[in-house]
Amino acid sequence: MIQGFGLGLRTDHYADFTSGRPAVDWLEVISENYLVPGGRPLHHLDRIRADWPMVMHGVSMSLGGTDPLDLDYLRDLKALARRVQPAWLSDHLCWTGVNGRNLHDLLPLPMTEAALRHLTDRIARVQDLLGQRIAVENLSSYVRFAADEMNEYEFVAELLQRSDCLLLLDVNNVYVSSVNHGFDAQAYIDAMPAERVVQIHLAGHSRQGEFLIDTHDAPVCDAVWALYRHTLRRLGPRPTMIERDDNIPPLAELLDELALARRIAAEVLADSTAVAA
Ligand SMILES: [Fe+2]
Repeated sequence: MIQGFGLGLRTDHYADFTSGRPAVDWLEVISENYLVPGGRPLHHLDRIRADWPMVMHGVSMSLGGTDPLDLDYLRDLKALARRVQPAWLSDHLCWTGVNGRNLHDLLPLPMTEAALRHLTDRIARVQDLLGQRIAVENLSSYVRFAADEMNEYEFVAELLQRSDCLLLLDVNNVYVSSVNHGFDAQAYIDAMPAERVVQIHLAGHSRQGEFLIDTHDAPVCDAVWALYRHTLRRLGPRPTMIERDDNIPPLAELLDELALARRIAAEVLADSTAVAA
């Protein structure tokens, strides 16, 4: 198992991790970046893996999709996991395409009983094929469906009741969706089964008119830090990382942001210890 504070490994920072020892406890790698022909990405991956624990994060499982599961993808993912030996691997509660077309976007599902049954079945089959539990990540979204039968946190909590999987809780996604859809972000966190939450994502977002968009191109904002505090009070310490996918700054900037996550976690832990004593 991993503990502490991590970052998503990005090509911009390969040299920082091969030539030094940045203050990072573990790294998350995007699986698809290493499921490509040619040895160069894998060369870097192996080199960096020698020094850092890793988790794998994917974007192509399409757990909510209606196309058959992509067995070639899952076979390649399993082979990569054998190589990386990640603490766990994760993907999203979404669909990514239909009729064999990958739209390269993480698309939301209707919050319905039928979608719950569909996801539960596909998660079980994926876990059987991979031979291990996966972590599923809550999405940020910008639309809701007329067919919705429950709100998102009821949906995710019920899915975790029915599925033997883990949760990658993206606190920024909870915040973004809470603003876009007008629900209580703290109630969402409170509804999650603590024992299933293995990892936390933090990220920045941007505003476009009425909506918040999950752009991962900016520092974590104050409201998300406040929700992170609430999350740690509720769950206790959890492996936490910052996702940055655009406007990627020098590593030192992300390390400063990660240091803030460490300080907040230490404060919450000290507070809860004081309350317990
Ligand atoms: Fe995320």
